[in-house]
Amino acid sequence: MSIRTPLTLASIEPDAGLRAALALDPAGVVATVTDSGIKGRGGAGFPTGRKWALAAGAPAPDGVRYVVCNADEGEPSTFKDRVLLDELPDLVFEGMTIAAYAIGAHEGICYLRGEYVYLLDALEACLARRREAGLLGDDVLGSGFSFDVRVFLGAGAYVCGEETALIESLEGRRGEARSRPPFPVVRGYNGAPTVVNNVETFAWTAAILARGADWFAAIGTDRSTGPKLLSVSGDVQHPGIYEFPLGVPIATVLEAAGGADAKAVIVGGAAGTCVPRRDFGRAISYEDVSTGGAVIVLGPWRDLLEVAENLQWFFVNESCGQCTPCRVGSLKLLEGIRRLRRGECTRQELADLVSLGGTMQIASKCGLGQAAPNVFLSLVRSLEQEMLSHIPAGAR
Ligand SMILES: Cc1cc2nc3c(=O)[nH]c(=O)nc-3n(C[C@H](O)[C@H](O)[C@H](O)COP(=O)(O)O)c2cc1C
Ligand code: SF4
Repeated sequence: MSIRTPLTLASIEPDAGLRAALALDPAGVVATVTDSGIKGRGGAGFPTGRKWALAAGAPAPDGVRYVVCNADEGEPSTFKDRVLLDELPDLVFEGMTIAAYAIGAHEGICYLRGEYVYLLDALEACLARRREAGLLGDDVLGSGFSFDVRVFLGAGAYVCGEETALIESLEGRRGEARSRPPFPVVRGYNGAPTVVNNVETFAWTAAILARGADWFAAIGTDRSTGPKLLSVSGDVQHPGIYEFPLGVPIATVLEAAGGADAKAVIVGGAAGTCVPRRDFGRAISYEDVSTGGAVIVLGPWRDLLEVAENLQWFFVNESCGQCTPCRVGSLKLLEGIRRLRRGECTRQELADLVSLGGTMQIASKCGLGQAAPNVFLSLVRSLEQEMLSHIPAGAR
């Protein structure tokens, strides 16, 4: 997949971040990451500095803590982590090493999406090179600090990208979300405090240590600092990876990608928000329309309900089945969207579907079920008249 804009991450001096981190004490590293304002690039947008501080401060029996890189990248139409793992794996492992130093971990695991198995040999080779260069292993760069990373291959379940299901999978069990609290920073892998961060988050933390918190914080908006990688796909002339400062208007992304005539854009993938053309002035940021990286462009000819049906089918298949609102709700929503498309839905039924979606959002156990109705609900909210046009005249 093409990289369409220059990537700042590609210009970061190798291992400058790690050397800068080792010159600080661990609390100083956490403070630098906190001061940068960076929030997780995997979708949920949790402040990374706060996550590291929580893990560093959580009681750790035998002093064991873990750092896990979430390289599951299962969100439909997200492919920016694959490019980072392919092109800049050193920077990702450097970020993991910095995190480990900050929280006092000695073992790291990279949870690699099963479909990315073709990257495995190259990643193992990169880790071997880093051990050889003294960047991993005992006594990293003569600092007295020890850390190593292994790669664990996932098996193709979307829910395993959710951090607690990922940890279950790492421990050898079926990938199912855990009840929270306790959060992984307190009780994660093997019951020990565990930091789980996205691939891109680790890469940016290496850059932050190399260039400074102020450099990063000066990019983007007050509440959404730094640049963000976007995977742009769908009805555009130039699909690929783009880097923009957070806060970028959707219209700017579309112009760059050759999709200015789009009818709507789904920001955030299957779990995201459908934004209609009239709202293309809205910003991609944590305070407006947020995304782990996916931007799906829908051309003027697209049947948006067909898209919603397709995505709902995805959730029906990927629900782990553990809780009723998600297991049953996803299927009921799919059936309802199909009835709406066939012109068999009444206005009351549409209202019931919206209410069902609301219940799923608040009652599902994990983010999969909570986000499953998002695209449909955002469609009804923002394109109500178009949705109502699917209802037979006598039933409106
Ligand atoms: C169903 C589901 C799938 C997810 N998939 C991913 C994923 O593939 N990669 C990822 O980094 N985060 C994913 N997440 C978010 C993680 O649970 C977690 O918030 C993230 O890895 C934390 O890293 P960050 O703070 O650096 O973003 C997923 C969440 C849910 C609910
Ligand atoms: S919300 Fe869905 S995926 Fe998450 S625990 Fe419930 S059934 Fe499983």
